[in-house]
Amino acid sequence: MTDTEPDDSSKSIDYDSASKVYDQLRSGNPEMMHEVLKGASIPDGGVVLDIGCGTCNNTLLFMKASRTRVVGIDLSRGMLNKACEKGPAPHLIQSSADRLPFKTCSFDFAYMTEVLHHVRDFRATIASAGRALRNHGQLCVVTQSHEQIDKRITSRFFPSTAGIDKSRYPSIKEIEGTMLDNHFVKVRNDTHEFATEDLGAEYLETIEQRAYSMLHMISEKEFQEGLARLREVIHSDEPLIYTPRYTFVWGIKGDLVGGVGTEVYSIAQQIS
Ligand SMILES: C[S@@+](CC[C@H](N)C(=O)[O-])C[C@H]1O[C@@H](n2cnc3c(N)ncnc32)[C@H](O)[C@@H]1O
Repeated sequence: MTDTEPDDSSKSIDYDSASKVYDQLRSGNPEMMHEVLKGASIPDGGVVLDIGCGTCNNTLLFMKASRTRVVGIDLSRGMLNKACEKGPAPHLIQSSADRLPFKTCSFDFAYMTEVLHHVRDFRATIASAGRALRNHGQLCVVTQSHEQIDKRITSRFFPSTAGIDKSRYPSIKEIEGTMLDNHFVKVRNDTHEFATEDLGAEYLETIEQRAYSMLHMISEKEFQEGLARLREVIHSDEPLIYTPRYTFVWGIKGDLVGGVGTEVYSIAQQIS
């Protein structure tokens, strides 16, 4: 029994269990958060929402760089508990992204990094973010396009993960269309390349521990065969070069008649 309500077992994994090792295997991405912040327009004293903040690896980077007040929500209590262990944390609330527990127009900026493919209903998630933002507030969805998924190293060694993720990840067009149908105007996307890496022992451990959710969704046979091939390459002289590529989808909320107020709803639910 966990504290997390199951969302949709076919799209996500048990993050209460994953939280025990998540931070040993996956860290925040300063380059990514720098680019999110570069595109964000946040007024002085503005309030930011990190949707699916996890253990707050990226939230803490964003807070440090922006000096804004950030509220984090995540479905997994285990992930949020890990975030709390890191010291002065943002306000944290356990909630599902498709039913955000905030008043309309509470936030100036909202972002989500590597979350949209986990939620049961990505349209409801975008609509819920749209309601939580103030008029002219901005949403940034950090995700990967289907082409970027095909080019991942994991797609080379575990080929069926590409198909699994292309059915979990909404396409960029679907995200943009959903934004336009749900409060957003001025929708656009841009692609980002982060530092090229020569993958070695650290990457191998990440894969051995199945730190990426799609590795829990393939057969044991495919996992073991892919792992054996990966070990061979990593222990050989052949370099394993990878440039992570992401797509950021941006939307600005249009005027929503009747929605005003800036108070964060039910801060009593925050975990501290
Ligand atoms: C790959 S992790 C990303 C965490 C964080 N955004 C980061 O960049 O490190 C995905 C996160 O989405 C959360 N999640 C999955 N389904 C969710 C939902 N329906 N509502 C809110 N969070 C959800 C998981 O608990 C997990 O923390």
